[in-house]
Amino acid sequence: MRILTGIQPSGKLHWGNYFGAMKNMFDLQDKGEEFMFIANFHAMTTVRDGATLRESTREVALDYLACGLDPAKTVVYRQSDVPEVQELAWYLSCLTPMGLLERCHSYKDKMAHGFDATHGLFAYPVLMAADILIMQSDLVPVGKDQKQHLEVTRDLAIKFNNAYGEIFKIPDAYIPDTVATIPGTDGQKMSKSYHNTIELFDPSAKKKVMGIVTDSKTMEEPKEPEGNSIYELYKLFATPDEVAQMAANFRAGNYGYGHAKKALLEAYHRLFDPFKAKREELVKDPDALEDILREGAKRARAAAAPTMEKVRSAVGL
Ligand code: ADP
Ligand code: TRP
Repeated sequence: MRILTGIQPSGKLHWGNYFGAMKNMFDLQDKGEEFMFIANFHAMTTVRDGATLRESTREVALDYLACGLDPAKTVVYRQSDVPEVQELAWYLSCLTPMGLLERCHSYKDKMAHGFDATHGLFAYPVLMAADILIMQSDLVPVGKDQKQHLEVTRDLAIKFNNAYGEIFKIPDAYIPDTVATIPGTDGQKMSKSYHNTIELFDPSAKKKVMGIVTDSKTMEEPKEPEGNSIYELYKLFATPDEVAQMAANFRAGNYGYGHAKKALLEAYHRLFDPFKAKREELVKDPDALEDILREGAKRARAAAAPTMEKVRSAVGL
């Protein structure tokens, strides 16, 4: 089984990225052959500065490795190091109905947030389909916001197979309910575009956790934990016993949001402080990082090669 995901280096990674995509990849590392890439081509839809893109790409690679990616098990690479994805994207483009892309929420959402209406942003799901199909992926761990892009991918794979013969596997999204949509500090979906994120190694994590929006119930009042952002975030970090304890505390009353925020912050540090220490080690050796990415690129291109040969021959090249 092949498992694949990518994250755009379009800013610092946050809790939503970790629980929505990264952690599922790390948890599945022994379940199949894994590919985890840094979607730097995709990030060009919003990042317009070369030095910034280069630096963010390196930062995402460091985050992957610090938080649990084992390069001996998972193939880790920069999207741009597998240029064949661009080639495949063109073949897929020639079969992509305009209407399919026009219906994509993420494009409409980005437009609503003031991003330029470029062809790159519009064609983004086709390139994403190429990333997935080129590796014959079976499973794609992502957050719920990417579900529609997976449907587009499946659609394009079926169209291609109908036109040219059975070449692509039809991939499935992997979106466990518990991590489908991680809430941000304002209760909406955590997202860079909403300025409500807590970054993986956020120097102002304390301030942000303490600033999570709550209702105005007093400390004494009993509270329903389900649906409360602090409790929902705590579930991600804490053990089942700790979660049950927090729920009981909320329901009993005399337990304020401030107490819960403190517990959340502690649970965050318990998980992320060791990752932070690992990251500090990795940063010291840029050559080792570059070697890992170069080796990943070699393995990724080798994995893509047999599919690309079949594709080129099928389309008549
Ligand atoms: P952002 O919305 O901050 O721009 P990205 O679109 O770069 O995040 O997301 C990268 C990956 O992380 C995708 O798989 C996406 O579904 C996942 N992800 C991002 N935010 C969340 C969230 N709040 N809840 C669950 N998954 C998320
Ligand atoms: N579109 C994804 C996002 O914004 C990033 C991405 C690009 C991706 N190619 C992919 C995710 C392939 C999974 C598989 O988060």
